[in-house]
Parts: sequence; C-alpha cells; structure tokens
Amino acid sequence: MSSLPKTSSRPGQSTSKQNYKKIWYAPASRAKWYWLLVSGTFYLLLFTWYQYALHTGQEAEPFEDPFRLFGICAFVLVLLSASYTLRRRFARALPGKVQSWLWMHTWLGIITILVALLHENYAYITHDFLQVPNDLLEANLGPIALFALILLVFSGIAGRLFDQWQTRKMAHEAATNGVGIAQAVEERVRHLEETAESLCAGKSDAFKEHCQKRLQPTNQQKNMLASLSGSLTPRARSDLQRAEEALDERARLLISLQHLQQSQRLIRRWRMLHILIASLSLLIITYHSIMELSITILHITTIVPSP
Ligand code: HEM
Repeated sequence: MSSLPKTSSRPGQSTSKQNYKKIWYAPASRAKWYWLLVSGTFYLLLFTWYQYALHTGQEAEPFEDPFRLFGICAFVLVLLSASYTLRRRFARALPGKVQSWLWMHTWLGIITILVALLHENYAYITHDFLQVPNDLLEANLGPIALFALILLVFSGIAGRLFDQWQTRKMAHEAATNGVGIAQAVEERVRHLEETAESLCAGKSDAFKEHCQKRLQPTNQQKNMLASLSGSLTPRARSDLQRAEEALDERARLLISLQHLQQSQRLIRRWRMLHILIASLSLLIITYHSIMELSITILHITTIVPSP
C-alpha cells in the first residue's frame, strides 16, 4: 500500500495544492525499475525462445520441451510472487524493504500471465476456445488454472490502482482537515470532547444539556444557542463560546474521520478479496502443476484414459 505521511497543519491553515502534492509524493523506489528490468528481460528471453521453438518446430523430450519449461517457469513465478506475503507477515526479518518486495510481487505477477500464455501457446485466448464448461477441466484443470491466474493478476492490478486512488484521497483529507491521518483525528476529537466537558463543569443544567446534545452523533443544536446565551453570566458565555468552537471543530473532524475510515475500510476489503482469489488460484495452479509434472516429466502418475 502507498504510504501516507502524517501532517501537522492546524485548522485554518491554508493548504496549497503544491503543499498537498509535497505531502502525498513519496520518492519512487529504485526497486520498481530494478524488478521491471529483471522481469522484462526474463520475459523477453522466454519469448525469443518461444519464437525459436515455433520456427524450428522442435519435438523435444518433455524435460527439454520449452512449452513445458514455460509452465514450470510460470509456476515458479507464481510462488515467487506469493512469497511477498512471507516478507510482509511471516518472516519480517527477510532482507529488503516491504516496498521493494511489493514491486517484485507486482512485476513478477504481471509477467506470470505472459509466461503462462507462452506455456499454452495462447490456447483458449486466440484459438482452441472452450466449447463446453467441461473443457475447463482438461489437462488437469489447465484452463481453470490459466483463468484463475488471469483473474488474480487483474485483481492485483485493479487493486493497486484503487489503493493508490484511495491513498491519494486520504492524503488530501489529511492535508486539508488541519489535523492529519485518522489516528491523529481520533486523538484530536477525544481532546475536543474533553475540552467541552471540562467547560461544562460547574455550569447550569441548560449549559450542560446543550453540550451533551451537541455531543450526540446527529445533533444540530445551533438554534438553541441564542436563547441559552442570553441567560448566562459573561464568564459562562465566554466558556460557552469556547465549548461551541470545540464542538464545531469536533463535528467537522468527525466528517473527515468518516472519509478517512471509509477509505481504509475499502482498501482492507480489496486486500481481503485479492488474498482470497490468491489462495484459491494457488490451490488450482499448484494442483495443475504437480499433476502435470508427475505425469509428463516424473512419470509418477499415468493418465487414466476416459471410458
Ligand atoms: C501471481 C500473481 C499474484 C499472487 C500469487 C498474489 C498474491 C498476493 C498475496 C498472497 C497477497 C497478500 C500479502 C499479505 O498481505 O500478506 C497479495 C497482496 C497484494 N497484491 Fe498480489 N498477487 C499476485 C499478483 C499481483 C499483481 C500483478 C499485483 C499488482 C499489479 C498485485 C498487487 C498486490 C497488492 C497491492 C497487495 C497488497 C499489498 C499490501 O498491502 O501490502 N498482486 N498478493
């Protein structure tokens, strides 16, 4: 996920577009270009091999057959891409920044589709289209594995763009609400509530009731203010003014907090969806890969002819 810096601007401070951009901007990681170069070069090598194999029409032994090797490469790429979760969750001591691993994850994930397409010689995409649902099951779930991989990678790309859009929205909100990111806003809201409560101490029941009502989530008690203000001593009137300011700022920040939390929720939901798709896809792809390896290369399992 893109990082969101804290901002310390105060209410009323004007935040120019340029300032906001500065807050949002995170220096591009070198890992982005490194992994793009590594993945791009690797794919070009395989693609050249693919063209050569097509032109020579070679019939090689399974272990040397480039089309099978492309399948093995695609499987290894899927596993490497999934290894991002190790660095992020299970083995945080692994070297390299999480952001660099995410770039590795992204670029290897993208070329995995391209390599899987070479493995199938673009079957099901440019020719040999599926005729009946049962075709999905052929070659040990080969077509399902391919479509699951495509769905997974597209969910990753869409999610990455969505993630960036939501993070940009949060950065804008944090830069313009005068307080910062969600945790800072929550803290400030708590502080404002405490301020309003302390200003109520020792005041009339009408004063306290007014503040209590304004602390309710949906309450708009502005119309009561004029009548209440008239019945107060000058000292209490000044406290009421301060309590009103705190409560107004609190109301404004609660709206901002809602926006920030909504973005966080949406990002979390997308991530859960991507992880769910990744888990199911990995199961199918692993099944397909192991079965194909055992049948065509290791000769452990034999193909059962259909009756
Ligand atoms: C072979 C393909 C892929 C696999 C197996 C895969 C799997 C995963 C898994 C397991 C996670 C969860 C990591 C965690 O939170 O522990 C994840 C997260 C993520 N993936 Fe993928 N993914 C693939 C492709 C892609 C692609 C192509 C992109 C983007 C272009 C992408 C973008 C992301 C993003 C943005 C996250 C969330 C990162 C974070 O918040 O830390 N994924 N992926």
